[in-house]
Amino acid sequence: MIAFGGDYNPEQWPEEIWAEDMALMKEAGVTLVTVGVFSWAQVQAGPDDFRFGWLDRVMDLLADSGVAADLATMTASPPPWLTRLHPEILPVRQDGTVLSPGGRQHFSPSSHVYRRYAAELVERLATRYADHPALAMWHIGNEFGCHVSASYDDESAGAFRGWLRDRYGDVEALNDAWSTAFWSQRYTDFEEVLPPRVAATYPNPAQQLDFARFSNDAMLACYQAEAAILRRITPAVRVTTNFLSLLKPVDVHKWSPHTDIAAVDCYPDPADPRSYLWAGLTYDIIRSARGGQPWLLMEHPTSAVNWRQVNVPQRPGQLRVTSLQAVAHGADAVLYFQWRQSRGGAEKFHSGMVPHAGPDSRIFTEVKALGAELAAVPGLAGTRISNEVSLLLDWESWWASELDSRPSALTSQPDALMSCYAPLFERGIGVDVVHPDADLSRYKVVVVPSLYLLRAATASRLADWTRAGGQLVVTFLTGIVDECDRIHLGGYLGPLAPVLGVTVEEHVPLPEGAHVTLAPSGTGTMWSERVILRGATAIGTFSGGDLAGEPAVTRHAFGSGTAWYLATRPDAATMAAVLDPALAAADVRPALGGLPHGVQAARRGPYLILLNHAAQAAEIRLPSPMVNAADGATVSGVALGPFGTAILR
Ligand code: GLA
Repeated sequence: MIAFGGDYNPEQWPEEIWAEDMALMKEAGVTLVTVGVFSWAQVQAGPDDFRFGWLDRVMDLLADSGVAADLATMTASPPPWLTRLHPEILPVRQDGTVLSPGGRQHFSPSSHVYRRYAAELVERLATRYADHPALAMWHIGNEFGCHVSASYDDESAGAFRGWLRDRYGDVEALNDAWSTAFWSQRYTDFEEVLPPRVAATYPNPAQQLDFARFSNDAMLACYQAEAAILRRITPAVRVTTNFLSLLKPVDVHKWSPHTDIAAVDCYPDPADPRSYLWAGLTYDIIRSARGGQPWLLMEHPTSAVNWRQVNVPQRPGQLRVTSLQAVAHGADAVLYFQWRQSRGGAEKFHSGMVPHAGPDSRIFTEVKALGAELAAVPGLAGTRISNEVSLLLDWESWWASELDSRPSALTSQPDALMSCYAPLFERGIGVDVVHPDADLSRYKVVVVPSLYLLRAATASRLADWTRAGGQLVVTFLTGIVDECDRIHLGGYLGPLAPVLGVTVEEHVPLPEGAHVTLAPSGTGTMWSERVILRGATAIGTFSGGDLAGEPAVTRHAFGSGTAWYLATRPDAATMAAVLDPALAAADVRPALGGLPHGVQAARRGPYLILLNHAAQAAEIRLPSPMVNAADGATVSGVALGPFGTAILR
């Protein structure tokens, strides 16, 4: 069954409320709750003062109520006594500002004192609850990297030097990798190396890139240290952490093999009519990160959040479609932040499953209805999604592509991804989002949105895949640098140029708001460049400015496959001129064609899930009769109300 529930923070409430919590959870069909994410100060009042009594009672209540616990390791917010005793664990910003306690996530990932205290807490938690009947899963930390993803303190500087020694061996290799001949930056000893703190001007870009790698590894080491303790004491209990798929500092591809199940938090903005596209991308990243295995939607809102400029609530009925979208993308759990809306604290205006108004409310009514609906389709859980199209995403390339001092500060990795994801989504084509070095053999179309940092080995794998019959679609700002952020000489696109049959001689980024016109039709924004044909055919050209008549969109037959290149950020019609023939050549079809705008159809195992993201009703005709999972009726069409959904098989 799809698990249903949310973050449960009973420590925020008097104990008398807990019995009511259990009764309401039963009413809502809650099966899984995340407990203790921010409970460190509640279970440990001093170095040797552990107070687990209240948590014992919470865990017992959950077990008695048949609700499973995703028990957190509580290490995301060190308690005040700890930062008083050891202020050296506090993180330090690039400019030297020490971040005070009082918020959360105020620890330097490299702090050995923080890690020691965290390890002791985790050891005690694991030992105490190892055999507890409520324990279903471990939840390490919380949204690593969300507020603090790096620290520039002296201990981190030392750890960074150790990391560099491991990577480069000797300082001359580091000088070479960091191009330190530039601006008199040559090092004679690793001890001279610092984190890229605020400098007189742009710090060395390769140093910044390595510091992003190091900081990701430092956070991952915190996670792994906790995971090792949990696996030793409770080897049968799954371990996870809640990612934010599109959080730049955390390389989900590198982390997810160290989880037993992937989990993500997602907060679509009800004020943004296209937020379901970002949610879909988020979910496709997390599903793909563990090879298509079902995953957990660890947190999402029942209505408004508290952290946007204006916190618009979800509209009546919208909760169902935003929650079921995760299921349609492969989730085996629909969990909210949080069970009971807080009375005090920074998130008191953040919605919960039980709002301030109490259970006699629109939100709790919608929560209950969805709980019942999910319970009625037990067969959905565990089913998989199989896609024939993938997008490539490499966190290291993302880090490198957005360093300061570059051709255009307007380009961004999320924008490049979305510019390719949205047209596929709108065509009803399901996609996986994988690392460039993942096994691509199951895909017929591979889309490469701005893979700025390109390794020669990756390019050669993409060449083999295309030669064997793949349809490769590549967008601008690809193949610019190697893994040390050094330019591929001889024309941009570097080692991928032979596959695409073009090289790029010169970048011509466009000012904000400007566009270029294309021939035979269409426009491009953000970017243009001087493309030299080296075997490819121009299917679109720039039609104005200094690049008039030069290639903007190209196609190149390569072995049994085809490689397409886009030298600007294209409008929808120009994107169609590439995607439609590529999809057709690969015979990739949507789950269901001809859908009204805003309606999504997704296949998951034997199920077809229909989601109306729009506030207008929609009529869907099915190519052949299907069974409606809600009532067992055989139907040949479905009427979806505003934000309506249907699960068919
Ligand atoms: C994140 C955190 C939660 C909570 C929510 C609010 O996802 O993990 O603790 O702060 O945001 O949206």
